[in-house]
Amino acid sequence: MPQSDSARPLAIVILAAGLGTRMKSSKPKMLHTILGRTVIGWVLSATQGLQAERSVCVIGHGGDVVAATLPEDIMTAVQHEQRGSGDALAAAGDALQGFSGDVLVVNGDGVLFTEATMMAVVEHHRHNSSSASALGISSDSGLPYGRIVHRPDGTIAKIVEVGDATADELAIRELNAGVYCFDAAALREALPKLSTNNAQGEYYITDLFALIAKAGGATRIVIAGSEDELLGINDRADLATAAGILQRRIIAAWNQVGVTIDVPNTVTIEPTVRIEADAHIEAGSILRGATHIAVGAVIGPMTTLTDVRVGRDARVVRSHAEQADIGERALVGPFAYLRPGTVLHAGSKAGAFVEIKNSEIGQDSKIPHLSYIGDATIGTGTNIGAGTITANYRPELGSGKQRTAIGSNVRTGSDNVFVAPVTIHNNAFTAAGSIIVDDVPEGSLAIARARQTNVPGYSERITVPDR
Ligand code: UD1
Ligand code: CA
Repeated sequence: MPQSDSARPLAIVILAAGLGTRMKSSKPKMLHTILGRTVIGWVLSATQGLQAERSVCVIGHGGDVVAATLPEDIMTAVQHEQRGSGDALAAAGDALQGFSGDVLVVNGDGVLFTEATMMAVVEHHRHNSSSASALGISSDSGLPYGRIVHRPDGTIAKIVEVGDATADELAIRELNAGVYCFDAAALREALPKLSTNNAQGEYYITDLFALIAKAGGATRIVIAGSEDELLGINDRADLATAAGILQRRIIAAWNQVGVTIDVPNTVTIEPTVRIEADAHIEAGSILRGATHIAVGAVIGPMTTLTDVRVGRDARVVRSHAEQADIGERALVGPFAYLRPGTVLHAGSKAGAFVEIKNSEIGQDSKIPHLSYIGDATIGTGTNIGAGTITANYRPELGSGKQRTAIGSNVRTGSDNVFVAPVTIHNNAFTAAGSIIVDDVPEGSLAIARARQTNVPGYSERITVPDR
């Protein structure tokens, strides 16, 4: 007899061996991504806080690639042939050997399950000392989910799949979401009794309820969660629907901590992104990976940031950045492209049509217009003229990139090329149109262009048609 004790050990089994045929994909269903996280990753994120003694993922089709994406503390069990969800649970038998306590079983395609709902299932199961519990979500949708046949006191008689249900059973509003909790001993006893005597000829996990009820075990429905959570990923349309719902949840959570998000249905924010209060995300912006936006920063419109740190009160307008560090009060864009290794220190600027890669731009230094800065270090308070290029690739010097070093308080002219390796020392100047191949000493002006020649009376010597 299971005891009602929150200290009872918990094991989690995630069923993730299904073929996912309806995805029409060469990739296993579990590895399709929503907002940068895999299907199985979403389910794991909902169960992670439950402090299970062990977690087992049942894999099958494409199992090795799925297993490679799992955290180290997740055990795997292999279901060699996909003979139904009940058979998948049986495949976890070895991994559960010697375990006594409660086993939470979760459909691996239930990306909308929340931690609160998972906890509610476990708590109700323990509170009622049940042998088997199933999460029921009330819905008038009539969607083709299993129907939980239960009595008014919550006792489950059985769960029927739509293909096996009578008209009366189809009218039941409590739908099976694919989250169950079993007493390990009751589960071990019932699993071998499953048969394939049903419409799909499969071993159904859902049939365990009738078997456990028949053996005298307490089977109970746990009504919890929201209708959203019913959605299992079966095809590409489900992926899109789930992405919309998950995105709205993420945006609502950031709104709660004080982040303004304009036109939210145009914004993408992955679950791994962190945003501080009073940041403002404008329409059409996409924030991915380990991006972190500090207090008061304004991002967008139409800006994509992947693994980018944005400092306090910085402004990033219509730009694209990856693995870059944008300092506080820095200004980026419109139309800037910051590539990996870009570091913009406080108050610096990367303006319109500026591309920067693997370079450090010092405090209050500015690259306002139309430039490519690669493999460069720029000191503080320097201004780079419009149309500047660092020529960092010198095949005659080997395959690596050459560095340009520009000091502090330097003023470079428009349309300069810095042919690296080259150093421009502090307080130096360069003239417009210069191609700088030699170092420029501190405080000097470098002029590196052909002197202009004016030819007097030229117009009288030639015939210009139509003038
Ligand atoms: C299942 C339930 C249904 C419920 C619905 C909720 C059964 C029999 N039916 O239906 O009552 O309303 O989920 O979304 O379970 N799996 C394996 N190996 C297999 C077959 C399935 O690991 O051989 C896994 C799948 O990866 C999936 C889960 O089991 O995570 C459920 O299988 P699926 O085929 O998606 O069942 P549904 O028809 O959606
Ligand atoms: Ca499913």
